[in-house]
Amino acid sequence: MNMAQTKRIVLGITGGIAAYKAAELARLLVKLDIEVQVAMTEAATHFITPATMRALTGQPVLIDQWQDDKGMAHIHASRLADAIVIAPATADFIAKLAHGLANDLLSTLCLARDCPLLVAPAMNKQMWSNAAMQRNLQQLISDGVTVLGPSSGIQACGEEGMGRMLEAETLAQDIVALFQPKLLAGINILITAGPTYEAIDAVRGITNRSSGKMGYAIAQAALEMGAAVTLVSGPTALPQPNGANTVNVTSAAEMFEAVKHQAARSDMFIAVAAVADYRVAQPSEQKIKKSDTGLTLELIPNPDILAYVASLPKPPFCVGFAAESEKLSEYAATKRRKKNIPLLAANLAQNAIGSDDNELVLFDDAGEHVLPRADKLALARALLRHAAVLYRKGSKQ
Ligand code: C5P
Repeated sequence: MNMAQTKRIVLGITGGIAAYKAAELARLLVKLDIEVQVAMTEAATHFITPATMRALTGQPVLIDQWQDDKGMAHIHASRLADAIVIAPATADFIAKLAHGLANDLLSTLCLARDCPLLVAPAMNKQMWSNAAMQRNLQQLISDGVTVLGPSSGIQACGEEGMGRMLEAETLAQDIVALFQPKLLAGINILITAGPTYEAIDAVRGITNRSSGKMGYAIAQAALEMGAAVTLVSGPTALPQPNGANTVNVTSAAEMFEAVKHQAARSDMFIAVAAVADYRVAQPSEQKIKKSDTGLTLELIPNPDILAYVASLPKPPFCVGFAAESEKLSEYAATKRRKKNIPLLAANLAQNAIGSDDNELVLFDDAGEHVLPRADKLALARALLRHAAVLYRKGSKQ
């Protein structure tokens, strides 16, 4: 995860059915090298056992303020924590937080904290929309508490609506994001991602195997680092990154239009999309009928979006990608010069396309920097840390 030192969180579990998801959350956080101290309300122990949480975190679980030898668990645990995360947070517990009540160990711990507090509400949709509940939530927000979710969907009671706790994976991501240094705060970043689709006729087209994963990971990492992100995405199967302004496009021409529209207000442009080099000169509106004589398509070049942005009178800081199948260093260095961009990230296409991890080599004025094989989100963070340093250097000149 690349956090300077191990982070510690207190995972507070309150008495709701979503408590079972807290087990998965604890497991994911431990896997991310975060130390997890679980504190449960008595009600939570009716939904999930302390033994489960102890086994997953390797730490004794805090429950009863009267069974603490030194009598100071609320102070010790909160002082040691880099953040307290309440997942699930019931309507009752949110009400207690809003009013500063401290009549059990977990609520006392929250009141005694000097670190960020995050809550992941989980409740029935009627309880969620109740005026008192919403009033309490607003109070938490104005007290600086971060509210994660909830989402909408089928509920334990069989009803459907708002109030489901976010999935463990999403919560883990949000917690990791909290710990990322905000190196890109106040910076507008424009990113292209995914493939483009160039129509041949009404049903057929030319596209490529780009999944969009690298571009989406960069968008996610940029959001974590505090940037305002616009993501111009070709067709992918990925969920939109939470918090990004996503513009969905299909063809290279549409991508070009969307980028032209946004480029002037961007401080940084990261071109990750695998833009088709050519499009069909005259796509047919109707499906082309099969013919025994074969079919010849005339292809004409698409505009080079990155080269266009880099040649603007006042270009944003431009980062390009190069996917090569051989001679990585030679081709990448040439491409960086040709496109006149300060930073280029190169990878071997056969390693990158569609896969969850990758290996990158960064090329800039200082030379080559290898980012060893890692998952795409970890690589995205490393790439952005490098880009942030160069961007700040450049903007001071
Ligand atoms: O020239 P090549 O396609 O290899 O360059 C790759 C880089 O240029 C990537 O950053 C890609 O997003 C960008 N690009 C672009 N518009 C194109 C072709 C490539 O922005 N038409």
